[in-house]
Amino acid sequence: MKPSHARVLLTGATGGIGQATARALMRAGASLLLVGRSEGALDEMSRQLTAAGASASRVRWIAADLTQARDVQRLVIEAARLDCNVVIHGAGLPAFGAFQTLPAADIRSVLQTNLEVPVLLTQALLPRLLTLPQAQIVCVGSALGRMGLPGFSVYSASKFGLLGFAEALRRELADTTVRVQYIGPRTTRTRFNAPAVTAYNRATGTSADTPEFVANAIVQLLTDGTAERFLGFPERLAVRLNALAPAWFDRVFRKHAAHLRNSQNPTPTAPSTPLARH
Ligand SMILES: NC(=O)c1ccc[n+]([C@@H]2O[C@H](COP(=O)([O-])OP(=O)(O)OC[C@H]3O[C@@H](n4cnc5c(N)ncnc54)[C@H](OP(=O)(O)O)[C@@H]3O)[C@@H](O)[C@H]2O)c1
Repeated sequence: MKPSHARVLLTGATGGIGQATARALMRAGASLLLVGRSEGALDEMSRQLTAAGASASRVRWIAADLTQARDVQRLVIEAARLDCNVVIHGAGLPAFGAFQTLPAADIRSVLQTNLEVPVLLTQALLPRLLTLPQAQIVCVGSALGRMGLPGFSVYSASKFGLLGFAEALRRELADTTVRVQYIGPRTTRTRFNAPAVTAYNRATGTSADTPEFVANAIVQLLTDGTAERFLGFPERLAVRLNALAPAWFDRVFRKHAAHLRNSQNPTPTAPSTPLARH
């Protein structure tokens, strides 16, 4: 769809990728319904967007904790009122660390926020989207949604789940006006990545993208309608090869597992493969 025809419900709008995506969509002519939990952050963002040239009628926001059914209901009503025809599921939580060390409560939150939330929000929005001449649902996944790395077991589980959801729903809705898409960024420089992840990434010799790069890719995906896209090289290639030869990648990522173990005791080694990414 042309961005200028898009009325976008954007979750995760107050995050690093979300803020950059809001700016990129605004420049491309879209109208926005920004969603995050902090009223203050959303208000400030909408001020900045209007100061940068967007008319106030093109930038709306609603504070909502997407894990709360009542907040989701309010959001669905507001999306209908504003006639949103695009949903970008950007809200997400990170999880990094040796699997045995992850607290059960964190595991539940990550699976809920990264998988259950977009699934249930999509289900709540879908009846109205299906009545529109054209609608798009964009799931912000991850390269780790197609390639599991040591230290990212639970995060990968959530993003693999989101990929499966997007693929199956896209096929289920193939003869409707609703298109379902998945974008898999690699590591992106936002607050999402704790210092331990940054150290892991440095030790595994890989590079990170800017949120602006990811935002432009999201606008491009919206415009060209591509079903699924992974960002960055060599990650784009690695996710495909990983699907074909997982056992070979098991050997490659032994070094990453060694780094994970060593990062929890004081004699780290530096794995050399360039394939680790989000
Ligand atoms: N950064 C990366 O390296 C990277 C790489 C690949 C994919 N991704 C994916 O890209 C997306 C955005 O990441 P980011 O880097 O922009 O992260 P971020 O800066 O940490 O932002 C996360 C966003 O999610 C929102 N959120 C979290 N829990 C929520 C909840 N219960 N209800 C409503 N909103 C909630 C946050 O809202 P509040 O402001 O209210 O907390 C914030 O807007 C995520 O899905 C992430 O998995 C990130």
